[in-house]
Amino acid sequence: MSVGASHSRLLVKGGKVVNADQSFEADVYIENGIISQVGKNLSTPGGTKVVDATGKLVMPGGIDTHTHMQLPFMGTFAVDDFYTGTKAAISGGTTMIIDFVLDQKGVSLLEAYDKWKGWADPKVCCDYSFHVAVTWWSPQVSEELLELVTNRGVNSFKMFMAYKDVFMLGDADLYEVYKRCRDIGALAMMHAENGDVIAHEQKRMLDLGITGPEGHEMCRPEDVEAEATNRAVMIANRVNCPMYIVHVMSKASADVIVEARRRGNVVFGEPIAAGLGTDGTNYWHKCWRHAAGHVMGPPLRPDTTTPKYLMKLLASGDMECTGTDNCTFNGSQKALGKDNFAKIPNGVNGVEDRMSVIWEKGVASGILDENKFVAVTSTNAAKVFNIYPQKGVIAPGSDADIIVWDPNATRTISAKTHHQAVDFNIFEGMVCHGVTVCTISRGKVVYEDGRFTVSAGDGKYVPRKPFSNYVYDRVLKRREALKPVPVEREPYTGAVYKRKEEK
Ligand code: URP
Ligand code: ZN
Ligand code: ZN
Ligand code: ZN
Repeated sequence: MSVGASHSRLLVKGGKVVNADQSFEADVYIENGIISQVGKNLSTPGGTKVVDATGKLVMPGGIDTHTHMQLPFMGTFAVDDFYTGTKAAISGGTTMIIDFVLDQKGVSLLEAYDKWKGWADPKVCCDYSFHVAVTWWSPQVSEELLELVTNRGVNSFKMFMAYKDVFMLGDADLYEVYKRCRDIGALAMMHAENGDVIAHEQKRMLDLGITGPEGHEMCRPEDVEAEATNRAVMIANRVNCPMYIVHVMSKASADVIVEARRRGNVVFGEPIAAGLGTDGTNYWHKCWRHAAGHVMGPPLRPDTTTPKYLMKLLASGDMECTGTDNCTFNGSQKALGKDNFAKIPNGVNGVEDRMSVIWEKGVASGILDENKFVAVTSTNAAKVFNIYPQKGVIAPGSDADIIVWDPNATRTISAKTHHQAVDFNIFEGMVCHGVTVCTISRGKVVYEDGRFTVSAGDGKYVPRKPFSNYVYDRVLKRREALKPVPVEREPYTGAVYKRKEEK
């Protein structure tokens, strides 16, 4: 980008900068996409574009740790693609998504990665990166993990304990994948639900004549999630592999993670906007489309105290990052399961509304302060996934991914006005304080006062290096400190019983 291009110099003036560690009044001066100075009354060259942030908060753009744009899934494709999904993201104050390369068993992970990148690059409106799902295991896959880490900028791999016969891996394979992740400095991520039990329970519910969306929750209640979470954490701990539990949906599963952290395990939990903003009573809604619109795995929980419980764990630092699991399907797609809840494509929206929902339910309700808000929506993700301080902080040298946020303005979430392609919104009617006034992506204003100034393909792929300090410092120390050692003792010289066949 040449100096003098309209967006090469930008001054965000008069706002309060909010980072994860502190807030302070300051201007932010940006040159060629990078934050150059943060301070009061900065003098800037002529021709600098000015964004007036008087009375507003100036925060690092959100990082959504968990999306599935245009995912081929359950007989259809997620309707929000890398264009509509990332455009919606920037309108809500998210400036980076980490999506999942997720292909069928038997498909080369490298080919899958190339396919997904081919889909994303021409469409993305904000920066993005990829986790890669490991849905099968072989020596070839093991080699491909190393290649992805070394040359493709991937440092996180997701495995599934659910979706039996589709994506699910057994414990023996998980043990091998975790060892590989540990050796190459990657973070193992887990979809934690007991897939065998779910398969049996789905059949039991259908035999009982329960075909509607309520059956989805009834066949995979909290303990199905908590058991798998415990197993995932236990196996990871056996091999000293760091573990990240995606979409933590229940109090029971969250408790497993909190207890493991108390014991010193290197484990992170990711609540999502859906689980923080709404609940599983929706599965009992009389309108089938409404109920089906909330179907996702693991399900939202009918215990209505769950969202606040998860929010408090974000406040206390027990939960780390927030994503959305954005994976959207229109009514006609959800209707693939109109007679059988097990065939309803799993997934909900969130990429556009995550920041507002967390502000409303977290900050406006007094559970999070503004700095913690930044930590759980941006900074912690940058640290865990090893892109800090390139992302996740407003400081000289960092990418200028910045939002100007009006904490006093309100907006009402609705499918009628949202920017996502999907025809339903799980947060319909929610009035949220906290509105994105302006979104800046790599120093360029991409959204301001409700208008987009961005084109498909403007976003960039963000490669991520392995061995994130935030994750791996303790892991590497433990490799030596906790190495099992045999007891030195004299050999046993007494009699040894002979088995029958040896006599
Ligand atoms: O329901 C969900 N979560 N859909 C997307 C796939 C996944 O498991 O993350
Ligand atoms: Zn999942
Ligand atoms: Zn309805
Ligand atoms: Zn997901």
